[in-house]
Amino acid sequence: MIIDKVIGEGFGNSSIIFQINKKTIMLYAIETSGITKQFDDITAVNKVSISVKPGELFGLLGPNGAGKTTLINMLSTMTDPSGGSAAVWGFDVVKNADMVRQSIGVVFQDTTLDDRLTGRENLDLHGRLYGLDGKTRKKRIEEVLSLVELTDRADALVKTYSGGMMRRLEIARGLMHHPHVLFLDEPTLGLDPQTRIHIWEYIKTLNKEEGVTIMLTTHYMEEADHLCDRIAIIDHGEIVALDSPEAMKNSLGGDVITLELEKPGDIAGLCSAYQKNGCANIVSQKNNEVFITVRDGERQIPHVLALASNAGIPIISVSLRKPTLDDVFLHHTGKAIRDKEAGEVERVGYIIRSRRK
Ligand SMILES: Nc1ncnc2c1ncn2[C@@H]1O[C@H](COP(=O)(O)OP(=O)(O)OP(=O)(O)O)[C@@H](O)[C@H]1O
Ligand SMILES: [Mg+2]
Repeated sequence: MIIDKVIGEGFGNSSIIFQINKKTIMLYAIETSGITKQFDDITAVNKVSISVKPGELFGLLGPNGAGKTTLINMLSTMTDPSGGSAAVWGFDVVKNADMVRQSIGVVFQDTTLDDRLTGRENLDLHGRLYGLDGKTRKKRIEEVLSLVELTDRADALVKTYSGGMMRRLEIARGLMHHPHVLFLDEPTLGLDPQTRIHIWEYIKTLNKEEGVTIMLTTHYMEEADHLCDRIAIIDHGEIVALDSPEAMKNSLGGDVITLELEKPGDIAGLCSAYQKNGCANIVSQKNNEVFITVRDGERQIPHVLALASNAGIPIISVSLRKPTLDDVFLHHTGKAIRDKEAGEVERVGYIIRSRRK
């Protein structure tokens, strides 16, 4: 392979954009190398290295405070890294921040719409900030409004919009200047399940039909699972697992049997009985439940229950299911991501309500 010309910044040994036989090829739309962000004594992002291919839909999945927004903020040039480096669409996020900004669209976690303006006016303002001329703005506003199905409500004040409509308008705004890469920070946080599924469709369309590279953050496992080609699970600023959702779930090695124990004090004894016996691939625990991963779950249940009975440990209930990303998270971090979800919905509901006052 003969490389004619290297274009774009790149770093380390991987040049990001180059030409072969006059064809421009980009290896990575986003590439970070040991990127780190320190806030006094908090390491919000700790030596993260990831590579996202052009056209990929890549997810950062993690609980509150994991460092997802901080990572997006560094990649979108909102804040400088304390260490390491990153390139987006071939441009270094520190040395070439202006070029990065031209190449990306961002939908922030907390809404940044002006609710005293109409939807159309918000889009127009954004187009002006990006230097789009009047004719181009007009055309593009119609396109993005139609994409998120807001044409009918375009001239209503944003303060009369529902939470889902605001989120759709923000996605439309992020697309006004035809970005190559779109960052979506918690695109469906606090929205009801039906609206969430609706927004997933727009995200998929953008990615598959318009070819936009997307990096989204979420702490909804279903969202990451449904949308993303690959996911990085992030906890305490570090990547704990990175793969496709399917490969991650398969890595647990089978079906998950959940056993609810009568006495939480019995958990350690039961886990060690299963591990010693070698009947389970992975054993984890939460409150008074033990999760074990086994091949051929239906057939293994009697054996698993017999072992508990032999160890003199009473079981209240037993269930069998396919592994979820929560099991993957539990396996890697020892805790569940789900615990946080209910409170978060309320928090965002509050943000949207308080903006309306
Ligand atoms: N400007 C800041 N100053 C000090 N600490 C900060 C700042 N921004 C973030 N942090 C801290 O960095 C850590 C990561 O925060 P971040 O907002 O990136 O997490 P997150 O994964 O986006 O969480 P959430 O799911 O709640 O949005 C947290 O401990 C947070 O308190
Ligand atoms: Mg966040």
